[in-house]
Order: sequence, then structure tokens, then C-alpha cells
Amino acid sequence: MKFFVDTADVDAIRELNDLGMVDGVTTNPSLILKSGRDILEVTKEICGIVDGPVSAEVVALDADAMIAEGRKLAEIADNIAVKVPLTWAGLKTCKVLSDEGRMVNVTLCFSANQALLAAKAGATFISPFIGRLDDINLDGMDLIQDIRTIYDNFGFETQILAASIRTVNHVTQSALIGADVITAPPSVIKSLASHPLTDKGLDAFMKDWAKTGQSIL
Ligand code: G3P
Repeated sequence: MKFFVDTADVDAIRELNDLGMVDGVTTNPSLILKSGRDILEVTKEICGIVDGPVSAEVVALDADAMIAEGRKLAEIADNIAVKVPLTWAGLKTCKVLSDEGRMVNVTLCFSANQALLAAKAGATFISPFIGRLDDINLDGMDLIQDIRTIYDNFGFETQILAASIRTVNHVTQSALIGADVITAPPSVIKSLASHPLTDKGLDAFMKDWAKTGQSIL
């Protein structure tokens, strides 16, 4: 399973990338706002750090303007994936840009039918939002499972990019179901390494080691 990092914070991306934890990056207008940076400038910097796909989102709402924005974003670097919302205009944009050979990430997906349409429009990635479904008392993981089943039934090659990941359990469940990619904030990726029994065991080892009076170096 690939790990994308869901942020426009270049320091956080660099830190995780140096550890080999970053297969790609996803951004959105809210994350650009949080970064305080210019979208074109920060996206270019991210594309220079990471080899894999970097999603940059259009903000127009009609297809012609979305297509123009998508082409401009795609000029930033070869590893740009143009991110479009799952609206009819977004699907039209997806089809046009995919036919041009560009990577497209269709975002704000909340149903299996939406995912089916994105695959038929040639999306490289579909981004179902797990956490936001959980927020309204639905089970976001059910959506990941439904999309996995449908894509496998018909051999769609669109990659399932599990998004709006808030917890380490979302990551585990996505991996078990067979999502192709997860995108998560740096804090969630880092917390995958934490376990209270690791901390407890290490503490015991350190105390016993101190009693030996030895040193390795
Ligand atoms: O990848 C989508 C993500 O940025 C949305 O996450 O936590 O705002 O629902 P969240």
C-alpha cells in the first residue's frame, strides 16, 4: 500500500520523505490556506521533493475553467495529479485531462456510485473521504470496501486513495480492505509507530541495561 502525505507543509514532507515514508502528496485549498503559501510556488517545491504523484486541486466550478486550471497546474511538474471534485463538471474535466495523458485525482467522493463514475471517466485516483462519513455517523470503511469490490468486479484500474484519514485504525482497515493508497496528515503517519507496549518494554530494557554497567560504544 502506498502512503501519500496530506499536507502542504514542506518541512513535514521532507522529514517523512527522508525516511522513505512518502509515495506521494495530496493537497487541497484548505491545506494551501494552512500553509500560508502561494499554490503554484509551494506545489512546485513539493514536486521537487517527492518523486511520486502530487495532487493539486482546481477551484473553478465549471468544466471549461476547471480544465484550464488543471492544465496550468499540470505544467508545474510531470508528477502533478490534477485534483477535481466529484461533480458533473469535475467528471468532465477528469475525462478530458485523462485523455490528454494527465493523472487525475477525483476528490470529495462519498458514495460507491460516485466512485463508479470516476473510474468510467478515467480517473487515476478516487478519493473517498472516510473521516467525514464517520463524522455523520456513517462508516467510512464500508465505502472503501464497496469501492474495492466494485472496482475488482469489473477490473477498473482507478486506484482507491483512502482520504480524510484521522486515526491509525483507518490506516489498518484501509490496508486490510486493500485500498491502493492512503493519504494521511503527518501526525497520523508518525503515530503509526507508537504502541504503549513498545514504550513499556523499552523502559524495562533500559532499566536492566543500566544495571549491567556495560556500554556498547
Ligand atoms: O485528503 C482529504 C483530507 O484533506 C480531508 O481530511 O480531515 O479535513 O476530512 P479532513
